[in-house]
Amino acid sequence: MIIRKSKSEIAAMRHAGRIVAQTLKLIENEIRPGITTAELDAIAEKFIRKSGARPAFKGYRGYPATICASPNEVVVHGIPGSRELVEGDIISIDVGAELDGFYGDAAATFPVGKISEEAQRLIDVTKVSLLKGIEQCVEDNYLYDISYAVQSTVEAAGYSVVKEFVGHGIGRAMHEDPQIPNFGLPRRGPKIKLGMVFAIEPMVNIGGFKVDILADNWTVVTEDRSLSAHFEHTVAVTKQGPDVLTVL
Ligand code: MF3
Ligand code: CO
Repeated sequence: MIIRKSKSEIAAMRHAGRIVAQTLKLIENEIRPGITTAELDAIAEKFIRKSGARPAFKGYRGYPATICASPNEVVVHGIPGSRELVEGDIISIDVGAELDGFYGDAAATFPVGKISEEAQRLIDVTKVSLLKGIEQCVEDNYLYDISYAVQSTVEAAGYSVVKEFVGHGIGRAMHEDPQIPNFGLPRRGPKIKLGMVFAIEPMVNIGGFKVDILADNWTVVTEDRSLSAHFEHTVAVTKQGPDVLTVL
C-alpha cells in the first residue's frame, strides 16, 4: 500500500530532507585526498545529532554507521572505515535522517581532487538520470515512467543500471511501498497520485549491471569491478509538480 502524505506531512518531511541535504553539502566540502571515510562519517553523525535529528541508517538491520561511503567500484552500502580517499577516486555518499518521525534520504557521488574524464561522465550521466526520473513524478503518470526515464538515459550513454537494488517510498518509515526499480517500461505499474513521496536512487555502472556483495554482507561492488555512481533524492508529488525535499 502506497501511503499518501498531507501538505503538513510533506512540510515535516522537508525539514528532515533539508538536514540530509546540509549533511551532504558538509561532507562534499570535507572530501579531499587523505581523509578517511570514518572521518566523514563522524562529521555527518555530529551534524545530524546537533540538528536535532537521528541518523536513519545507524542500527538499521544492524548497519553500523551514519553514512554509506562507496568509493569507485563500490555501488552502495560501503561501510565507513580507515580507507583514505585518493586523488582520482569517486566516492558515493548516502545519508538518511529522521526528524520528528519523518525520514529524508539522499545520495550523491563526488570527485576526489582531479578525476578522469570517464569518471566525470559517469557522474554526470547518473545525476541527469535522477533528474529525468524526478521529472516523471507527476500526478497520473505511472510509477515505471520514472524507471524508464532513468534506464533510457543511462543506457543511451552506454552504461548499465543496477537491478538488484531499487528506490522506495518514504515517510514515517525509511522504506515504504512502492519499490522503484531503475529499469522498466513506460505506462506500467501503479498510477502516481498527489501526496506520494519517493526516494529515487539510480545506481549506474560503467561496465555490466551485475553486482557482488562482499563478506561483510553490506558492501555492494560491481561484479566486473568497473566504476559505479549513485544519486538519490526524496521527492514529493504535488499539484505544482515534483517537489524535491532533500535540498538546502
Ligand atoms: N539509500 C539507501 C536505502 O534507501 C540507504 C540504506 S543504507 C542502510 O536503502 F544501511 F540503512 F541500509
Ligand atoms: Co534510499
